[in-house]
Amino acid sequence: MGFRKDFVWGAANASYQVEGAPREEGKGLSIWDVFCREDGKIYENQNGDISCDQYHRYREDVKMMKDIGIQAYRFSISWPRILPDGEGEVNARGLEYYDNLVDELLANNIQPYITLYHWDLPYELQKKGGWMNPDIPELFYKYAAILAKHFSDRVEHFITINEPQCIAGLGYLTGVHAPGLKVGAAGFFTIWHNLLKAHGMAVKAIREHAVRPVKIGMAPCSALYYPASESEADIMAARKATFHLTNNSLEDCVWNIALWCDPVFRQEYPKEVYEYFGEYLPEITKEDMALISQPLDFYGQNMYNAVMVKADKNGNPVRVKRPEGFPKTAIQWPVTPECMYWAPRFLSERYQKPLIITENGMSSHDWIALDGKVHDSSRIDFMHRYLKEYKRGANEGIDLLGYFSWSSMDNFEWAYGYSERFGLIYVDYQTQKRTMKDSGYFYRDVISCNGENL
Ligand code: NOJ
Repeated sequence: MGFRKDFVWGAANASYQVEGAPREEGKGLSIWDVFCREDGKIYENQNGDISCDQYHRYREDVKMMKDIGIQAYRFSISWPRILPDGEGEVNARGLEYYDNLVDELLANNIQPYITLYHWDLPYELQKKGGWMNPDIPELFYKYAAILAKHFSDRVEHFITINEPQCIAGLGYLTGVHAPGLKVGAAGFFTIWHNLLKAHGMAVKAIREHAVRPVKIGMAPCSALYYPASESEADIMAARKATFHLTNNSLEDCVWNIALWCDPVFRQEYPKEVYEYFGEYLPEITKEDMALISQPLDFYGQNMYNAVMVKADKNGNPVRVKRPEGFPKTAIQWPVTPECMYWAPRFLSERYQKPLIITENGMSSHDWIALDGKVHDSSRIDFMHRYLKEYKRGANEGIDLLGYFSWSSMDNFEWAYGYSERFGLIYVDYQTQKRTMKDSGYFYRDVISCNGENL
């Protein structure tokens, strides 16, 4: 059976990670522009000022994606490029940049998938509390309306918020991401609620302002789990771990997918959250829930790895310790291709939506070899293994719409700066020369036969 005929093979990226041009043509500062200036926050105090300079080199980048055969490019729009103050006057030159990008993609037969928010909040809004500000959902509505009105004639797919878990968990709890705050449990739940409401506001804005019917989703990440064996007990245990708190800590809560997706897709909040964190929860009204849970067209998930669990004698999940020497990527994330079968299976069972992997890929410390090429054989093996598992789900009839490789090209990896490379295309940051990696050619072969070779 394999992947459906209209399966979408894409690649993803995000504004702050590739664009550079932080102050060009009227752009306002984002929280990342500011955070990277703080000493010791980012690996070797690096920043996204230039990065891949995609702002000036998007034509070349689109051409290289076309050479791979990429059918869709998921990129994000920088809110402060469009609204330098986060609200108010629109910066026409900001819109023009994305117009050019969208037109170039379409001219090359690549479908644009726009992410509205991939972490670069206008700094002016941070001054007013950022995601803690109760007005932020309304402000996000206005921003989303501008984008929907402007781009929906050419863009059919919109993703509201990328990894809200990281925004709240890393940006406001541990503080390792911008804006670098530590707001505690009550603050975390305020942000969580604001993010969900902002997501709902964006869905509303897009549906109200799009000039034709469009498709909307979001792109959460989360802790994921897979069973140690295919016994019914282990499968049940992995399912349970995926959707329930496993140790009732706040951290456990942050990365629990049900906390974010049950409200959106099932119009309910996980009961356990009330049980353990009830004292911190903001008031959630019926109207809030109606806003948050508006119908979406697909379920998106960013997916990199998962934890293996088995059932104890009561059927509860127990982590299986990874053996010494278990494979890891350069950034030290475990290689667990099984997540690509089990997570889509569990997620589509629970949320009843066609699914897209909105990000998947690996970091490797690639370099240009003596022959001028990039031989990233471990990434090829990683993609092969992960896609094979994904295909198992397709063969079993799970409704899978697409796959987005993270990333189209090497880029600024947040707190890790340029030390981690996730791309199918290698970037020499000194010369801005791009080189297709062997994995880019591998992906080209996969795409050309719609995954038949996996
Ligand atoms: C998650 C994020 O969405 C993206 O920005 C990041 O670079 C990749 N995954 C890899 O960490």
